[in-house]
Amino acid sequence: PQNPQVTIQGRTFARDDFTTVTPKIISRVGTNLHNQPNHPLCIIKEKIRDHFYRSFLNRRGNPLFSIYDHLSPVVTVQQNFDSVFVPKDHISRKKGDNYYINEEFMLRAHTSAHQHELVNAGLDAFLVVGDVYRRDEIDTSHYPVFHQMEGVKLFTHHELFAKCNNATNLSLFETGSTARTPDKQETHTMEAAKLLEFELKSIITSMAELLFGKDIQCRWIEAEFPFTHPSWELEIFFQGEWLEVLGCGIMEQKLLQSAGAGTSVGYAFGLGLERLAMILFDIPDIRLFWSTDNRFLAQFRDQDTNQVKFKPFSKYPPVIQDMSFWCPESDYESNDFYDLVRNVGGELVEQVAMIDEFTHPKTHRKSHCYRITYRSMERTLVREEVIQIHALIRETAERELRVEAR
Ligand code: PHE
Repeated sequence: PQNPQVTIQGRTFARDDFTTVTPKIISRVGTNLHNQPNHPLCIIKEKIRDHFYRSFLNRRGNPLFSIYDHLSPVVTVQQNFDSVFVPKDHISRKKGDNYYINEEFMLRAHTSAHQHELVNAGLDAFLVVGDVYRRDEIDTSHYPVFHQMEGVKLFTHHELFAKCNNATNLSLFETGSTARTPDKQETHTMEAAKLLEFELKSIITSMAELLFGKDIQCRWIEAEFPFTHPSWELEIFFQGEWLEVLGCGIMEQKLLQSAGAGTSVGYAFGLGLERLAMILFDIPDIRLFWSTDNRFLAQFRDQDTNQVKFKPFSKYPPVIQDMSFWCPESDYESNDFYDLVRNVGGELVEQVAMIDEFTHPKTHRKSHCYRITYRSMERTLVREEVIQIHALIRETAERELRVEAR
């Protein structure tokens, strides 16, 4: 029988119908790769932090931004979703996509979970760095734990319009409320919204140029988030494709109001550290960030990190195995299977993909076929050992997910 409690870093939680965290995922909590000196995620964090430190100084020459990189990833569902106005029925809340601890707690799915509490604490320029958790397919660029950096900067009237002539004729807020348009929120003036957009895009663009050089190709895409409007995503051209590396926008005024900062306006962004580090260091596989292999970590140690390009170690061949089964009538999601494969197969699983799905014409039962690619970063896998792991995955799926092997 399942333990009725879940323990994460010494805190105990009651299991309930919401629980989706697994032992494998819980074992990642507290690793804090972003705080390990010389780890590529830590190196990129420091580069971006220093850019913000240098770009915003007070009159005494001290940085305006403060950084929070030790906040626990265990947050309330309220913090992760409600505090940033994610609607109750929004798809991003799905059990199949999140690691819920129970109905009340979860592993944060984004660092935006901390926006409200930190603004509420009185901060007006801060960075949050941390591990975030999302259930996902496994492949070379997706892993269920990754790292984000959140940035928030608030402006008073005086701060936003400091560089403008006749600033007394400008205001942050409309006197009456106007309509929300693609360009701005209802309470904001056009000049406030446009200046904030300019400030936001400038600091992000200069950050990208600092990391990747002046010739880097970037583009802004219009986006939507429940806690910013207008919103954008930044994409960077890398190895023949456009890669999404960050989301950002003008903070919803109702968020600032509810956090006690209603007389200021602000922007916020959230960027993916793995994506940026993969581009910067030419790291081909997201699982490498979890490697304890010295062949990986030594490449970043005591080097001029502007020069480091990752040298892949010899590629070992994959072993590919398929698995087909009848799905149970209800309560089955592919992400349950992906998690199970990861729990049982561990780091040897490079990829799981659904390759076929059909419904039996008479019985109406659903059948799924998945292809699992096994590969070790360290050695050539022996076929027999893969067959054993594959069989163990099948047995575990039959038992825990009530699928029926075909
Ligand atoms: N939290 C968003 C995400 O994870 C990114 C974001 C942060 C967007 C801040 C806007 C403002 O996708």
